[in-house]
Amino acid sequence: MKSTKLTDLLGIKYPIIQGGMVWVSGHKLASAVSNEGGLGVLGAGSMKPDLLRHHIKKCKNTTSKPFAVNIPIFSAYSEEQVKVIIEEKVPIVITSAGSPKKYTQLFKEVGIIVGHVVPSVALGQKCEQAGVDFVVVEGFEAGGHNGRDETTTMCLVPQMAQAIKIPFAAAGGIGHGSQILACLAMGADGVQIGTKFACSLESSAHINYKNEIIKATESHTALVLKDLMPVRIAKTQFYNDILEAEKSGKDLQEVLGKGRAKLGIFEGDLDQGELEFGQISGLLKNCLSVSSIFDQFIKEYNQAKEDL
Ligand SMILES: Cc1cc2nc3c(=O)[nH]c(=O)nc-3n(C[C@H](O)[C@H](O)[C@H](O)COP(=O)(O)O)c2cc1C
Repeated sequence: MKSTKLTDLLGIKYPIIQGGMVWVSGHKLASAVSNEGGLGVLGAGSMKPDLLRHHIKKCKNTTSKPFAVNIPIFSAYSEEQVKVIIEEKVPIVITSAGSPKKYTQLFKEVGIIVGHVVPSVALGQKCEQAGVDFVVVEGFEAGGHNGRDETTTMCLVPQMAQAIKIPFAAAGGIGHGSQILACLAMGADGVQIGTKFACSLESSAHINYKNEIIKATESHTALVLKDLMPVRIAKTQFYNDILEAEKSGKDLQEVLGKGRAKLGIFEGDLDQGELEFGQISGLLKNCLSVSSIFDQFIKEYNQAKEDL
């Protein structure tokens, strides 16, 4: 797999970032990905500051390679998490779900490399203006929180390549080595992968959640809550309850309640929990180790290159 502007910037071997994921990407997953030559990312969105510090320390002990922390900016703990990241001298941060202006300069002053996740070309340009070092552009195939515009990765990547000069990774719907090759061919400098790593052995998600991914077809998920906070989830009872509430004009906050993502992803409640995963689930037939996933990606990438 070729090195790119992104692999050079991040000091990694392969242009593969494991997306930060609430209830999924703790130190086991992040360090396994970094040890294989990708960028492992701790998903701080579900961690209180002390727990985040614990995961960072574990990562430092289990990998000598670069790793990152993802902070969804809207998270209640983001201010305190920023302090922990700076104190622990984490080399790379990927912010999401908020303005790239909020923390970028603060991180850069202390030498931390900053990436930011966006769902559109215009927001990618805003990142560049805000001094962000690299962008992750995420199409609406992706699992989890998402943009409202329903723009696909296939359309975002070549447009982003023309719009910005800083390196960027493509995310959303990627689960096969041939797709990594395709993204690089379209102008991306790397990829960010969520659902496939969420289904790995090292992911801290519940086995019921992983089995749902394995059972799913490409049409098993949908983007919901477009007026509140769009999110791609599996079509479960909880999903039906959301649609029903939207139709009847019921207060959505009442239906959503609290802790639905934890209930679904971490505790494995398939009816009442929120199961965030993406359209690429249809391709995933096994729960593999991170090491096997990398072997597979490299083989598929090389095969696709040769076939072309
Ligand atoms: C279970 C789950 C939780 C996620 N949590 C976060 C998060 O906390 N922060 C974030 O920026 N993105 C989050 N994402 C998005 C991923 O980081 C990644 O960009 C996305 O999954 C890529 O699309 P894919 O699922 O098609 O591979 C989450 C995705 C999943 C599946």
